[in-house]
Amino acid sequence: MTARSSLTVVLAAGEGTRMRSSRPKVLHPLAGQSLLSHVLDAAPKEAGAALAVVVGPDHQAVVDEAKRVRPDAATFIQRERLGTAHAVLAARDAIARGADDLLVVFGDTPLITAGTFERLRAPLKNGAVLAVLGFRAADPTGYGRLLVEGGRLLAIREHADATPAERAITLCNAGAMAFDGRKALSVIEKIGNANSKGEYYLPDAVGIVRELGLEAVVIETGEDEVRGINSKAQLAEAEQVMQARLRKAALDAGVTMIAPETVYLAADTKFGSDVTIEPFVVIGPGVTIADGAVIHSFCHIVHSSIGKKALVGPFARMRPGTSLGEGAKIGNFVETKAAVLEAGVKVNHLSYVGDAHVGANSNLGAGTVTCNYDGFFKHKTTIGEGAFVGTHSSLVAPVRIGNGAYIGSGSVITRDVPDDAMALERSPQTNREGGARRFREMKTKGRKPKGD
Ligand code: UD1
Ligand code: MG
Repeated sequence: MTARSSLTVVLAAGEGTRMRSSRPKVLHPLAGQSLLSHVLDAAPKEAGAALAVVVGPDHQAVVDEAKRVRPDAATFIQRERLGTAHAVLAARDAIARGADDLLVVFGDTPLITAGTFERLRAPLKNGAVLAVLGFRAADPTGYGRLLVEGGRLLAIREHADATPAERAITLCNAGAMAFDGRKALSVIEKIGNANSKGEYYLPDAVGIVRELGLEAVVIETGEDEVRGINSKAQLAEAEQVMQARLRKAALDAGVTMIAPETVYLAADTKFGSDVTIEPFVVIGPGVTIADGAVIHSFCHIVHSSIGKKALVGPFARMRPGTSLGEGAKIGNFVETKAAVLEAGVKVNHLSYVGDAHVGANSNLGAGTVTCNYDGFFKHKTTIGEGAFVGTHSSLVAPVRIGNGAYIGSGSVITRDVPDDAMALERSPQTNREGGARRFREMKTKGRKPKGD
């Protein structure tokens, strides 16, 4: 049997006013990724799976995000916000191509999974024309209620239009629906706006399917998976659900975390085997951690790759573009940015390494700072293999330290240092015999000094 083709229409034209933010709602991050990207990731991806995203006017950033995540996505603009059925019809051209299955999902329900889309599509293979995703709401206020009789879905009643008896129903419309792709357009086009809000309600498709004597069914899922995000409080609740999922997946994959509830992961964090993450670590997007690496407590890591058996922290900050080679180590109060530290490099304490390449097995002493910014432009520091940079050195970029070179402590290095050279940049030290005693006597002149 050949696989069924599908079109997924993601509705993302809402203003999201309750987020109280200038950012479009679906671009708010959850586990380091936009709400929209979570939905797009869950949508069918196999060959023959097309995607359409409906956005509001002036939401180019939403279009850009959709294309970033799924370059194959088509985007459509809903110019007036006249309801969910009206929004679906903004993608009429894509729907008219007639995929086997038409999936509709809201861009603000980021916890939905690929497995649920599959379950929702299944009844279409058995003759149903419409499958609606339902859930039992702890508090159904505001949701559309599913009117079911003898196991058959008859209609969906929006909260505002429901009778008191209908409002007592807790089985609710989650928003996602799967239509028989060839009948969808004729059904959705029949939806009117004769309701209390004067909007074109997609849920009215159920009643229309019934009137046509066709089959509509409910597929149930848990409430956690279909939480809609309308406010910052709901965003924070969804983050908890998502973090719990990501932590469990990491533990199941063999990551050691003694206090997983204190570790924040991103949806795209990648782990090798035998990785350890100590308590209170925050991992943002774009992080890869290879086999046997250990992240000690209180680290903040984004867009970085950590090599095999590398050691990080405690209290390290890895900013975008950091790459640690095998067995490399960055210790406490070390900040890195756009820095490649090859295998065996050690930066153990109190350093800033930015716009830099450090060759294998070099050692940067405590307080080494790459001075990468002159107030106007960023410049690069290159350090060869097996170099030693003494404590409290400033490397004023652009500058190159050769292989095996040695920098004396406290140097301000402004010129390249050749391979195997020793660079010292300090004033000569003077020792004045008895100078301290004379200074003390001059200061106190027989008086008793204050303090301890
Ligand atoms: C909707 C459903 C309700 C369901 C609930 C689940 C309708 C009429 N009601 O209600 O049955 O229980 O979701 O959360 O569908 N959108 C557009 N353009 C529009 C209107 C909406 O793109 O003109 C998008 C929104 O951005 C959002 C989604 O559609 O992503 C749902 O819209 P929303 O206004 O949140 O619908 P609810 O009132 O929550
Ligand atoms: Mg909603």
